Amino acid sequence: MEPAELAALARAALDRAHAPYSGYRVGAALLCADGTVFAGCNVENASYGLSNCAERTALFAAVASGRTAFAAIAVAASGEEPPYPCGACRQVLAEFCGPEMPVHVETSRGVETTSLGALLPCRFGCGGGHG
Ligand code: THU
Repeated sequence: MEPAELAALARAALDRAHAPYSGYRVGAALLCADGTVFAGCNVENASYGLSNCAERTALFAAVASGRTAFAAIAVAASGEEPPYPCGACRQVLAEFCGPEMPVHVETSRGVETTSLGALLPCRFGCGGGHG
């Protein structure tokens, strides 16, 4: 799947964001190795620290559906600030995805592609996950 196509699915998902506190709506689209795509959005909470990012929403939905092998993720947001995955999401993605995993981020300049390894060069692992 082309990065632009996956990014369009991420953009569609941000319509479902629950972001009344930050006002920053985020959508993610996670492409599984079997070709299926899981969408996620950020889900905020009145107890702010309980909020969940779009990337983790998508990943947890995929894992709960039995997928643990992933090919790429795309992220889009409502604001000017491009939604590069936060540190927590990088570590959670690293549980299942190798450093070569493409991360497509929709920016005002278009879709920019980086990798999980570039975003999280010194990953922590206990040997139970991907590495
Ligand atoms: N957020 C995401 O969902 N993904 C990102 O990549 C960056 C931040 C959310 C968390 C919170 O609901 C809002 O954006 C503002 O930080």
